[in-house]
Amino acid sequence: MITFDHGKKTFHLQCGDFSYLFGVAATGDLQQLHWGAALSDKDLQKVLAAWEKVPVEDDHHISLEKHRREYPDFGHNDLRAPAFHLQHADGSRVSEFKFISHEIVPGKPAFGPGPSAEGRKEEDVETLKVTLRDALKGLVLELYYTLHPKEGVLVRRAGLRNEGKDPMDILKLSSASLDLPTGEHGLVSFTGRWAMERQMRTRPLYQGTVRLESRRGISSHETNPFAVVTLGSVTEEKGEAFGLALATSGNWLMEFQGHSDGSVRVNAGLNDFDFQWCLAPGETFLSPECVMVHSSSGFSDMSLRYHRFIRSNVLKGAWKTKERPILINNWEATYFKFKHEDILRIAKTAASLGVELMVLDDGWFGKRDDDTTSLGDWTVDSAKLPKGLGGLADEVRALRLKFGLWIEPEMVSPKSQLYERHPDWCLHVPGRTRKGARSQLVLDMGRPEVRDHLFEVLSAALEEAMVDYVKWDMNRSLSEVGNEALPPGQQREIYHRYLMGVYELMDRLNKRFPEVLFEGCSGGGARFDLGVLNYHPQIWTSDNTDGLDRLFIQYATSFCYPPLVMGAHISTVPNHQTKRVIPLKWRALVAMSGNFGLELDVSKMPEKELKELAGHIALYKDIRPLVQFGDFYRLESPYASERTSWMFVNEKRTEALLFVFQVKPFKKGTKVPTIHLRGLDPSKKYRIEGAELAGKKLMKEGWLPKDFKTVKKPYTCGLYRLRTL
Ligand code: GLA
Repeated sequence: MITFDHGKKTFHLQCGDFSYLFGVAATGDLQQLHWGAALSDKDLQKVLAAWEKVPVEDDHHISLEKHRREYPDFGHNDLRAPAFHLQHADGSRVSEFKFISHEIVPGKPAFGPGPSAEGRKEEDVETLKVTLRDALKGLVLELYYTLHPKEGVLVRRAGLRNEGKDPMDILKLSSASLDLPTGEHGLVSFTGRWAMERQMRTRPLYQGTVRLESRRGISSHETNPFAVVTLGSVTEEKGEAFGLALATSGNWLMEFQGHSDGSVRVNAGLNDFDFQWCLAPGETFLSPECVMVHSSSGFSDMSLRYHRFIRSNVLKGAWKTKERPILINNWEATYFKFKHEDILRIAKTAASLGVELMVLDDGWFGKRDDDTTSLGDWTVDSAKLPKGLGGLADEVRALRLKFGLWIEPEMVSPKSQLYERHPDWCLHVPGRTRKGARSQLVLDMGRPEVRDHLFEVLSAALEEAMVDYVKWDMNRSLSEVGNEALPPGQQREIYHRYLMGVYELMDRLNKRFPEVLFEGCSGGGARFDLGVLNYHPQIWTSDNTDGLDRLFIQYATSFCYPPLVMGAHISTVPNHQTKRVIPLKWRALVAMSGNFGLELDVSKMPEKELKELAGHIALYKDIRPLVQFGDFYRLESPYASERTSWMFVNEKRTEALLFVFQVKPFKKGTKVPTIHLRGLDPSKKYRIEGAELAGKKLMKEGWLPKDFKTVKKPYTCGLYRLRTL
């Protein structure tokens, strides 16, 4: 519920167990009053009484730095990091926005191009729009707050409109800003590198600034655009957590600035590094969305809210609520070296195992026998596939498998026909070297002619094979970010124009192929974010398919993203990335904890293993609705414990799955701890491993599967099903 108290001039956004409160000061400034646990009437009065004492007169004695500010500007006497930064036509950078009006509407306005989560009025979603104006320059700032009571989520974004007569430049624009009051704050971030994305890291926040960001043009392997601020000690079940997830796939920034008084300012939005946007009179510019979750009961509750919100509001299209097919991908089986018969051979065995979709990865087009050539030439290599894509797809479909294809639209190889024809289509700066990465250059997706061309050639390829699935890859960061078509003053717009161009092409292809399942990918998981999820309802989690490393990656990824969207495949041993040899059962259980698939040459597997694999596939089909659409609970962390365990529970709490992985033995002499199950109905009895046990007991006292009482073998793991009696 969103209310405005006309007397006190306060906005109260209430949502079950949290309250978000801000007010309009006598000066017209917005002041943040509370984001946290729901305020009782008494608490609300306390907050308001304290606010009334804050001096706000616009005189020489008041330091804005003493205020908690809702969307802080630049240039006055609050010298903390501003939420936005503008440069006016006269070169001045000081702005002065004052509250003008507000509007509360059911649902959510349509925001034009780019990602935007759904907000249905039937689910009591409401949006508050607060309008501020800089009278001197004729600029209008609009702050949007969409409240999703069902999931307990608040979505913020900001827009700027130029109603003045001169153009001006936006140097920085955050989606949301927070001034968290003095307290013991910590920061949980999800950082890493290629093949080890989203490793969970925790640090205290004190005076100084932590910038989590990407400057790479993609959301990046290095840091995920999702972070959690903690207050005091926070566990899965206890403590106060503030989650922030940006719905963007380009250059983003979250800055956490610890102030001398112990408070923390947070700004989350577009990265200001190498950014500038010229806003001509009459134009509007919008920040991305920031999806915010507050929980008073720990990480688990926060993650559940994100998962439900992503499943119901971020994912779109025909596949949103459909069970995802079990796929086999030929990448690690063949790399670039394959022919029609090899793919068919793999498909045949896969079909006999119960696989549902055959995906042809990189190497099917141009003359792509390695990664130095042909990106951009999206026509089939008839030396490899003499019957064409259509011929291969038909034969795959005859095996009762669906057919999928890998593409990397945003790239061009210097060795390609496309580059010969259009050497100016890639990002470049005249006279400067064009630095390759994986021997490829990046097409300037901000240019409409590039997008139109890609739409045509990709549509033709997808049509020829009548594909059911597309893996959209993006394998390098942006460099030499320049475009001669734009004037010098607009060169810093290119990153953002690029990103909006990518979204536009994604949207066009989605509309052209509404039944096709798209999977996002970026050298594994370098573009794993809410922006992509608006267009692609699943994402390849990491190029690292090692069963042990994946525990860490998938565990941490689940803080924001639900298992449904995490591509997780069984690959061969020794693992291609780590050389580790891990038993099939373990690899299968890790992959089955997400959006399950295979990535190996099944036609070369021994009979015994094939039999086992068929069993895992059948099992996954059985548990798939629960894994993909159930509630996910992390029980034991690979980062903190010798054992990792997690659970899936259905909505009615009548069925659950418990996955357990003994990563290393417990120290000699320690009593093996029980696993405290979660999410069950305490009043019901469950059958598990032949026993009948009360939900309450399983959660309070915990439980141990037989195999885990004394673990003898390395890589002991198990999946246990629970059903109510
Ligand atoms: C990236 C992807 C892989 C594979 C290769 C193909 O690295 O993450 O899954 O598709 O590209 O070149």
